[in-house]
Amino acid sequence: MTLRVGVVGGGQLARMMIAPAVELGIELRVLAETGGMSATLAATSVGDYHDAETVLAFAREVDVVTFDHEHVPQPVLRALVDAGVAVHPGPDALQYAQDKLLMRARLTELGMPQPDWAAVSDAAGLQDFLDTHGGRAVVKTPRGGYDGKGVRVVGAATEAEDWFAALAEDAHGGQLLVEELVEFRRELSQQVARRPSGDVIAYPVVETIQRDGVCAEVIAPAPQLSTRLAEVAAMVGTTIANGLAVTGMLAVELFETTDERVLVNELAMRPHNSGHWSQDGAVTDQFEQHLRAVLDLPLGDPSPRQPYTVMVNILGGPAAGDIDERFGAVMAEHPAVKIHTYGKAPRPGRKVGHVNAVGDDLDDAVYDARAAAAFFAD
Ligand SMILES: Nc1ncnc2c1ncn2[C@@H]1O[C@H](COP(=O)(O)OP(=O)(O)OP(=O)(O)O)[C@@H](O)[C@H]1O
Ligand SMILES: [Mg+2]
Repeated sequence: MTLRVGVVGGGQLARMMIAPAVELGIELRVLAETGGMSATLAATSVGDYHDAETVLAFAREVDVVTFDHEHVPQPVLRALVDAGVAVHPGPDALQYAQDKLLMRARLTELGMPQPDWAAVSDAAGLQDFLDTHGGRAVVKTPRGGYDGKGVRVVGAATEAEDWFAALAEDAHGGQLLVEELVEFRRELSQQVARRPSGDVIAYPVVETIQRDGVCAEVIAPAPQLSTRLAEVAAMVGTTIANGLAVTGMLAVELFETTDERVLVNELAMRPHNSGHWSQDGAVTDQFEQHLRAVLDLPLGDPSPRQPYTVMVNILGGPAAGDIDERFGAVMAEHPAVKIHTYGKAPRPGRKVGHVNAVGDDLDDAVYDARAAAAFFAD
């Protein structure tokens, strides 16, 4: 019988599961928010993921439900589980990717290395934290942040007044997360995959480069990372995957500090931008791995195929015309670069695709990937 995976959310992460699903003969179905989204190349229905009935009806047609994003509300997830649907990752794990305060508290219990943090419910609480942490800190809304939205560096409690005011109006009441402003040398990402029966594998830790709070480039593996820190990162990733009973792909965003520690920034329980390199650089890419993991199949080899893979995001895309109008020029100049597009209309800052370049020489791969991506920008 054909295996059927249902993905809630029709974005590019769902779209990129399509190719490995076709290779394996897995039927992929998508519940998209609207028509014409990135993943419409798969069998797609449109419906509201906030509505339990809609998601249940979708779930009845598949063997396992998984996700393109982390926004499906807990009550909807619980309704699926109660109805006997296999949900991976499940609600108990996903809550820690949905709420950064819950995550910080749980990771503290697990003894994971983290920035100093506190939950603050008013300006006085925030000012206390600032006073004990050198006068500057990072304030985050616990829920709903993405691409740096919901993250603010502040030097005074007044700079978060609007967020406290919004919280006061929130029916749930609520708190903000405040963290020490970490002095990092660079940002890293540790991906792991875990299947429901328990096996866990770790990908090589990668370096991620953010611009304006958005992932811009990834280098796999992270160049010149000490063996010790690579081991710590893998241990942190597997400990979190096991401790939170994550199923499918987990990304642990990390800071490498100037004093050679790794600290956990945040978690994503799905394929992640920091793993797009694996499509052309690893034996088993993160999208195939996610499908294997949520279906509780044996996990694939995460090893790199070449010494380096460099991923550069196509942010915004051409100011005029379509992305594919640039294919001729890019392909002629960079025959070894792999182009991935998401079927999204160009718009300033929007992630509309990425390119991967692989090779023995890091500088060459960086040059190739950047030059190819630049063809798509104006
Ligand atoms: N405590 C901190 N100290 C220093 N920089 C931080 C801190 N927390 C976050 N940042 C910076 O802000 C960026 C965005 O933060 P975070 O990853 O928490 O937000 P997000 O909007 O949920 O992220 P994403 O873009 O991954 O969805 C980080 O990648 C990092 O560059
Ligand atoms: Mg992040």
